[in-house]
Amino acid sequence: MLLPLNFYLITDLHHYSHSLGVSGEAFEKKDKREQLCLAETGAIIDAYIDKILEDEDTKIVLVAGDVSNNGAMESHRELIPKLRRFTNAGKRVFLITATHDYYVEGNAVGNPVRLEGDREYPAERTEREQLIELYHEFGLDEAIAFHSESHSYCVKLQEGYRLLCLNDDGDRSFCGYSEDQMRWILGQIDEAKRAGDYIFAMTHHPTLPPMPLYHIISNGDMLGDWDSTTTLLADAGIELMFTGHAHMHNIGLKITEKGNRYYDVNTSALVGYPSNMRKVRIDDEKIEIHSLCVDSFDWDMQGLTVDEYTKRHFSYMTNQILDAAADDFEYFADLAESFSMRHEQSYKLRKPITFVGKGLRKWTLGSAGRLLGVSKKIDPSVKDLVARDIITELIQNAFHGNEPYYPDTPLYIAVSAILDRISKPLSRFKKTKDIASLLQALKRSFYNEAPDDYELVIERKKV
Ligand SMILES: [Fe+2]
Ligand SMILES: [Fe+2]
Repeated sequence: MLLPLNFYLITDLHHYSHSLGVSGEAFEKKDKREQLCLAETGAIIDAYIDKILEDEDTKIVLVAGDVSNNGAMESHRELIPKLRRFTNAGKRVFLITATHDYYVEGNAVGNPVRLEGDREYPAERTEREQLIELYHEFGLDEAIAFHSESHSYCVKLQEGYRLLCLNDDGDRSFCGYSEDQMRWILGQIDEAKRAGDYIFAMTHHPTLPPMPLYHIISNGDMLGDWDSTTTLLADAGIELMFTGHAHMHNIGLKITEKGNRYYDVNTSALVGYPSNMRKVRIDDEKIEIHSLCVDSFDWDMQGLTVDEYTKRHFSYMTNQILDAAADDFEYFADLAESFSMRHEQSYKLRKPITFVGKGLRKWTLGSAGRLLGVSKKIDPSVKDLVARDIITELIQNAFHGNEPYYPDTPLYIAVSAILDRISKPLSRFKKTKDIASLLQALKRSFYNEAPDDYELVIERKKV
């Protein structure tokens, strides 16, 4: 009988060293455009480390990438002593890095700046090869196999359990696995099976869409070839994958044609909304996944809880996006990149975005229902809700996970009647078909498709 495996997982720490500037006009501007907390990252990371250290029984911590804000060497140098608090306390850390952690020529991501007053100055960058030197003590030193091209590695966590730490960032034009890497992965799965070990994996980019709209508006943020790759992995024997990057808290499930289950446990950014980590226990019978948040962190919280504080920061960004959609399209296209909508995608949709941006401020569900002839479907309890407030909440809910508006709720009934009426004629024409399917995906984003995003028990497959 094997001992159960227990571990924590944190992701998207995006650590921002204060030496990069935390005051002045340039910082304020960056901070207001940032969905994640910026000056607070060190305090938040420390609070989670304290909480994990209190649990003396759990000896393993996984870190799923994007450990620094934009690959500033100063941020990496500051983060390492924080992570050593785990290893000094006898815990083992298994870490992968990702796209935000190093520089690629011509790419703004990974090209750090130092902010002073209203000016930006270049900060020390980190090259991809330096990441190995910096972080080898957090996992790689224990590797039983290493795929050098991708920096992926496999470790034996304890008797009976192996973990594949899969780096998927490549050259950033394709965030996925190369043919050679895929062969290596399948080889590692086979070896684990031969040894009778349970094997699961961690990679940075989401491998199943964390919300129905995600892969439609930002397929480039998914693991490259996610659909075929997850089928291949699931059919080879991987049923559990941990991911980050989307900054959303979601658990996705796929069942392949061959009947194999595959779970993507996508965890929100530690320094964003919702701030959360996972605690996982695996034994012969089942996999238990829990979500945990710290009670506070060492910062002037202005009387807010961690949830309220991170949500307020998150909403700066949403409000600016919605205002820009109505009043300043160039700024909108600029901001849209932060939620992974490419410039050219935004400009393609310029007219409808501006029209909708302006309308969102004045349309209520009641007025939209009347205009579109679906008044009967608008319950009095929701008729005065303004579209913009609904969108703001929808975005927050999508990141938060366990979205609450199921098909039998008045809000869903009203919104779906409106979206159906709009998308029906659009779906008939080739030119507008994409908008219709986007609206249908938007509808499905109001509620959580099973499983639960926070607490989940998965019965293990009998072998
Ligand atoms: Fe990322
Ligand atoms: Fe991230």
